[in-house]
Amino acid sequence: MTINALPAPALSGLRLGTVLQRLVATVDWRARVQYDVDDRWYAPIDAGEFVDGVQVEAWLLSWWPGQRTGLHDHGGSAGAFAVVRGRLREDTVHAPAGELPRLRGRTLHASEQRVFGPRHLHEVVNDGAEPAVSIHVYAPRLTTMTRYRWTDYGPEVATVEKAGADW
Ligand SMILES: [Fe+2]
Repeated sequence: MTINALPAPALSGLRLGTVLQRLVATVDWRARVQYDVDDRWYAPIDAGEFVDGVQVEAWLLSWWPGQRTGLHDHGGSAGAFAVVRGRLREDTVHAPAGELPRLRGRTLHASEQRVFGPRHLHEVVNDGAEPAVSIHVYAPRLTTMTRYRWTDYGPEVATVEKAGADW
């Protein structure tokens, strides 16, 4: 008989969205945010809590026009992000039956948010003309992030980044 390790408990999207809304309402992001035209700027936010027994990790990000994440996952963490200034486009993979996978974009404007599960793959880009700012939460804490390159047949693993070493 084999006993498998129990997976880390997942925080429900509803609870994660609630944590995110509280941060959006309370974090003085205007006083903290910085912009970097060369690289995306980011700084940790003290989420300061466990929710449903899971530690939440939060980040403040800024995006100069044209800055993008590249296609990536979140290593098994669920997440949510809210745009607080400007706009961001999120591209996600869609694979209709019988068709090759393709990327499909949706635009989030200031005050809009997106909640996603632990297997979510996406790319986020500031395709607007103005700088954008967003707040992100993840649970459990991010440990790895796999980056993908886009091929004619869909996403292909490029690299795996690790917390503490790559960000
Ligand atoms: Fe992401």
